[in-house]
Amino acid sequence: MTVRTVHSLVGGKAVEGVPGGTLTVANPADLGELVAEAALGDAGTIVEACRVAKGAQSVWSSVPAPVRGRAVQQLGRLVEDNREKLASILTREIGKPIKESRGEVQEVIDTCSFFSSEGRRLYGQTVPSELPDKQLFTFRAPVGVSLIITAGNFPVAVPSWYIVPALLCGNAVVWKPAEYAPATAQAFAQLILHAGFTEGVFNLVIADGAQTFAGLERGLDEGVVDKVGFTGSTVVGRRIGELCGRYLQSPCLELGGKNPLVVMPDADIDLAVEGALFSGFATAGQRCTSLGTAIVHRDVHDDFLERFTKAVAEASIGDPWEDVLYGPMISRRFCDRFLDWLGLIREHHTIRGSTATGLITRDNPREGFLGDPEVGLYCHPTIVDGVTIDDALNRTETFGPIVGVATFETFDEALELANSHGYGLSSSIYTRDPMNVFRFRERVSAGMVSVNTSTAGAEAHMPFGGNGRSGNGSRQSGIWVLDQFTRWQAMNWDYSGRLQKAQMDVADLSADLTYRVPE
Ligand code: UN1
Repeated sequence: MTVRTVHSLVGGKAVEGVPGGTLTVANPADLGELVAEAALGDAGTIVEACRVAKGAQSVWSSVPAPVRGRAVQQLGRLVEDNREKLASILTREIGKPIKESRGEVQEVIDTCSFFSSEGRRLYGQTVPSELPDKQLFTFRAPVGVSLIITAGNFPVAVPSWYIVPALLCGNAVVWKPAEYAPATAQAFAQLILHAGFTEGVFNLVIADGAQTFAGLERGLDEGVVDKVGFTGSTVVGRRIGELCGRYLQSPCLELGGKNPLVVMPDADIDLAVEGALFSGFATAGQRCTSLGTAIVHRDVHDDFLERFTKAVAEASIGDPWEDVLYGPMISRRFCDRFLDWLGLIREHHTIRGSTATGLITRDNPREGFLGDPEVGLYCHPTIVDGVTIDDALNRTETFGPIVGVATFETFDEALELANSHGYGLSSSIYTRDPMNVFRFRERVSAGMVSVNTSTAGAEAHMPFGGNGRSGNGSRQSGIWVLDQFTRWQAMNWDYSGRLQKAQMDVADLSADLTYRVPE
């Protein structure tokens, strides 16, 4: 198989040199196979890309929005026509099951379909003035240069949620993908560069986190970064938020989650089990929307746990090219971190779901494993029963195939458990009672609520984002993300030929406010 050589792409050209060193990426399902060799840029590469983007932005923003939408439409077509190739690079590079990879590519296509028409809307408003012969208008103005920093668990869908609307709105973009998924990033970047966006408005920089942060700081200081989009950990998001705050910027932050799935006593238990299985273990639990803790009413707890355990024990895990629930961990780093988190399991917990925990190996096998576990980074699925509100496991985002189960008696307790960790991304409730549904919606801290379905799997045109430790309230996708990539500009047009002063020259309508309806 080909090893892809990846360079940063600035102004449409590959950047020579390796100021940040080189990085090789192996297929996590078969570590002997090299997928990519990336030439890393450094802080200077980030700044240079932002300068190029800054220089190119005004040409792009002067292209009429419906025409910009056409480039987005062309990108959607290119992605569609390269769907299988893109999905297979993705599966090879991060080990996502091929069916999920195809779904992820579809999410990019859906995003393009939505925003290609948005070029013909991008509405402003006409607003009545309080003065005669005067009209008020609002316009959406692009922000400028957007530096988009994304994670590798959704290496094309999540970037598209930023890049596509940013470009559609007339911004220039510098994209810093996860350095551990460079081949996928390069393939997607090339599709973007072939879609018809004007020169220099889209740039790719492959760099590590520390160099990116340094580059961001310099870029902000130099005035060549106007907006930051970041998907990643809460710790890094907080640092980015602090830094941007110093420059009076509010970044679009999409951070972690500890997503609850509440099972009420009236729930369809089989449906809840199916939902928990997908929410908890699809993508090997490496979604920001993955299930953290199933919060189950004590009357149905034993039944739920038994069926959930059976479903997890029977699920097929292994080779991501097969029909599996999940494949390997994304990379060594993700795998090591996950194994560390298993240390949060305490004596009062009971482990279910597999014959063992940790890495799946010949000596630590899983029955029914598809393929050879020794060649990749495969982990056992783990259900941890007996999670309580005070457990570190209840407060920690454990990016990987682990699901906690907690028990509650009253609805208040369920809500307390659901919100106790301070995250607020996704959530789910299984019940047949609308009262539970709406009470849950009202009181859960999450930005996204699902009813009788999975915590993962948001549709591409709904507001995506979280609260608390999950983000700063920004929302991606659909019309809502437009507020991230445009700023409202208000225009007052007085055609009376006089200076009419607002508040002071406004007509008075005299009223008799002492009037009362007679008895
Ligand atoms: C993420 O993990 O960062 O809702 C995004 C979902 C996917 C996107 C997840 N559509 O699970």
